[in-house]
Amino acid sequence: MISTSILTGDSLRQRLERAIAFAARQLRATLKTWTPDRPAPVHTRAGKWYRPRELWTDWTPGFYAGQMWILHQITREPSWRAEAERFSRKLEPRRFDRDVHDLGFIFLSSYGRWHDLLEAGDPQKDRVRDILVTAGTVQSFRWNGCGSHGFLYSFNGPQSLFVDILMNVRLLFWAARHGAPAEVHRRALEHCRTTARYLVRKSGSGLGEEDGRVAHEAIFNAESGRGEFRCLSTQQGYSPFTCWARGLAWALYGFAEAFRYSGEEEFLETAERCARYYLKRTPADGVPYWDYGAPQIPNEPKDSSAAAIAACSLRLLAEATRDPALASECRQAAARILETLAGEEYLAEGHAGEEGILLHGVYHRPRGWGVDASTMWGDYFFLEAIEGALNSLPS
Ligand code: GLY
Repeated sequence: MISTSILTGDSLRQRLERAIAFAARQLRATLKTWTPDRPAPVHTRAGKWYRPRELWTDWTPGFYAGQMWILHQITREPSWRAEAERFSRKLEPRRFDRDVHDLGFIFLSSYGRWHDLLEAGDPQKDRVRDILVTAGTVQSFRWNGCGSHGFLYSFNGPQSLFVDILMNVRLLFWAARHGAPAEVHRRALEHCRTTARYLVRKSGSGLGEEDGRVAHEAIFNAESGRGEFRCLSTQQGYSPFTCWARGLAWALYGFAEAFRYSGEEEFLETAERCARYYLKRTPADGVPYWDYGAPQIPNEPKDSSAAAIAACSLRLLAEATRDPALASECRQAAARILETLAGEEYLAEGHAGEEGILLHGVYHRPRGWGVDASTMWGDYFFLEAIEGALNSLPS
């Protein structure tokens, strides 16, 4: 269970401002090597930013540009905006990418942030909006509607539903709100319902089920005219029956956002169940082990990136829930997570030779990729969580 924060408002603010100053120095140094003419790095290896030659899926470059957008938002420095625009522009061709389920990750962290900064009436805003609407519409084409429960399918094929896709569905909601066809919105809703039904487990629905536990993948029969659910599975978790920590964090974020876009109570209630699981099952410092069912806990790696995503999501949920006790727990847990992540153990400051911002993330433990590393998404959501906290803490 997550313990309460030790730091008060003022000292937490100071710790977060210091983390932002460090992040800015670290990212400036990274920019010298990882220039716009090179593909973006994914995670660190022995402390140095690294991009694998063969990528499983190229889902992370928007988080590189996104960190520059956040630093611009917080510091108001024009140079961050110039860099953010430069790196975002490189991503534009990806809006037609039909091979991945990751367009929300790529575009909301880059073009989405750009769009929010532009004034209404600026012709550039229309152009940026069109790119986002196209990306959201293209993402909606990865549709398996052959059964009674449709969903956007993963890069593994039409049989596969991943929990991470919830984060990309946000782009469909966004696109539908800004001019994409109504079918894009309908698919987004149905995807969220299917995910809630199969991937977010309910106590009593199976042997040893715990409410709010999230499975990584569900497999369906993809034969035409079939579509029935076959089994749970996982790629990045320990097993189909344990809870991959980042999957839980994606679900928490994704359902809170699905509720914000749609107003559907089912999504709020699902986000609340995920949050209760996180609050109850996460260690006192707020950072989960990479999978809640990993066999050697406490001798397993923790995933700081899951904690950073959870800090953002708990704050979103605190705003949305009508349960005041849960809202207060979510706020306290978000503060506790940030206090930990911006502290000595997790912030790379003072750790010689580390090029990332946030230490101790995990990309893909079963394959041994990026274990105990900094990750592009961990750094991005850490900065996003700080941005949210600085906006709400007394100054
Ligand atoms: N592909 C999303 C993740 O690794 O969390």
